[in-house]
Amino acid sequence: MNAVERSIVADQSLAPEGHLKIDWVKAHMPVLNRIREQFEKEQPFRGLKVAISLHLEAKTAYLAKVVQAGGAEVTITGSNPLSTQDDVCAALAEDGITVFAKYNPDPQEYKELMIKTLETKPDLIIDDGGDLVTILHSERRDLLEGVRGGAEETTTGILRLKALDKEGRLEFPMVAVNDAFCKYLFDNRYGTGQSVFDGINRTTNLVVAGKTVVVVGYGWCGKGVAMRAKGLGAQVVVTEIDAIKAVEAYMDGFTVLPMSEAAKIGDYFVTVTGNRDVIRGEHFEVMKDGAILSNAGHFDVEVNKPELAAQSSSVRTVRRNIEEYQLKDGRKIYLLAEGRLVNLAAGDGHPAEIMDMTFALQALSLKYVNDRYGAIGKTVVNVPYELDEQVARYKLESLGISIDRLSDEQKAYLQSWQEH
Ligand SMILES: NC(=O)c1ccc[n+]([C@@H]2O[C@H](COP(=O)([O-])OP(=O)(O)OC[C@H]3O[C@@H](n4cnc5c(N)ncnc54)[C@H](O)[C@@H]3O)[C@@H](O)[C@H]2O)c1
Repeated sequence: MNAVERSIVADQSLAPEGHLKIDWVKAHMPVLNRIREQFEKEQPFRGLKVAISLHLEAKTAYLAKVVQAGGAEVTITGSNPLSTQDDVCAALAEDGITVFAKYNPDPQEYKELMIKTLETKPDLIIDDGGDLVTILHSERRDLLEGVRGGAEETTTGILRLKALDKEGRLEFPMVAVNDAFCKYLFDNRYGTGQSVFDGINRTTNLVVAGKTVVVVGYGWCGKGVAMRAKGLGAQVVVTEIDAIKAVEAYMDGFTVLPMSEAAKIGDYFVTVTGNRDVIRGEHFEVMKDGAILSNAGHFDVEVNKPELAAQSSSVRTVRRNIEEYQLKDGRKIYLLAEGRLVNLAAGDGHPAEIMDMTFALQALSLKYVNDRYGAIGKTVVNVPYELDEQVARYKLESLGISIDRLSDEQKAYLQSWQEH
């Protein structure tokens, strides 16, 4: 059976559109292109099976092809029901990658597609949000054997991995890609900042200038969202639970309020905490008529949807990816993309040049964990600084930017306690 026959996709006839999308991002991912050339020569994954769960759009598809170019047999599934693009899935299957993914499957089918991916018995995994690892460590422990290790993409996944690790139950090493400089400084901040407004703007077709945008959580993603909201001319309000982040937001020029106050004045709300119920019943009660809610955190738990539904007399879809909740007192609250990551469920995710660095780290981390198979403990490991720096250097070279180097005297000076 070939990959098209093995795959479960929505519509194989969509492949031509998917190929165009992949070609477009490939032309804007010079760092990953260099790694692909390296992998083609070195074949680091020859004879190995790699299972990937990532938001299945064009940039991810190109990463899968780079891993395949390194000799791996690749199987891929989505990491959110609404972020999978069916044309990209069809194109990947034609390129020899087994795909178990479709846009908007029901929850049971979504899970089954993920399990099918693991039933290929992978040697290595790439996870986003920790779902593959969680399934392997709970209901499908029978598939654990043979997994050498893997790499995790995002903040939420790393929190879950660290919780597993703390209990001493992680069964293979996982590289925390999110915690590398070339990931969170650019992907979480500039990627999320830009793509969240891409998603909101294309979905609502409404103006941001002059409105009040409430950013919930001032972590790496929240900083990017707040920065771009300000650039679009919004009044920006930040809510936080961390005193240091709250001072940082204040010093960056934003108004800091508790959600009980921010809820009353926001026109747009963007949650980016990785936490649950950060906007909930008591907040819906005081919101303005017409408030627009969206989430950019990994799971759709940040806006409490059951409480919103319970306070509503009706819900209807008023535009693609916009649900109108009519509250019992007559006010309307709009929720974008069912509270799933608005930049991916209602957009194409981060820009290609940003994911170039993130996915370069993914590819190098996967090679790193495989090269050291048996030599690193079953724990969460950081991306080595050398790999992080290599990605930054490749990026600078692709931009035609050169930087200075330390002279021997400078190196000696920086390492000395006697010189001053
Ligand atoms: N949409 C995307 O493309 C994308 C990209 C990267 C990360 N993420 C996800 O976004 C989420 C945030 O990631 P991050 O890297 O910014 O994490 P982070 O840890 O840097 O920041 C999260 C912030 O939220 C704050 N917070 C927690 N609970 C809160 C609450 N109840 N009210 C207000 N603030 C609260 C924390 O204090 C922290 O400052 C994660 O779920 C991550 O997986 C999404």
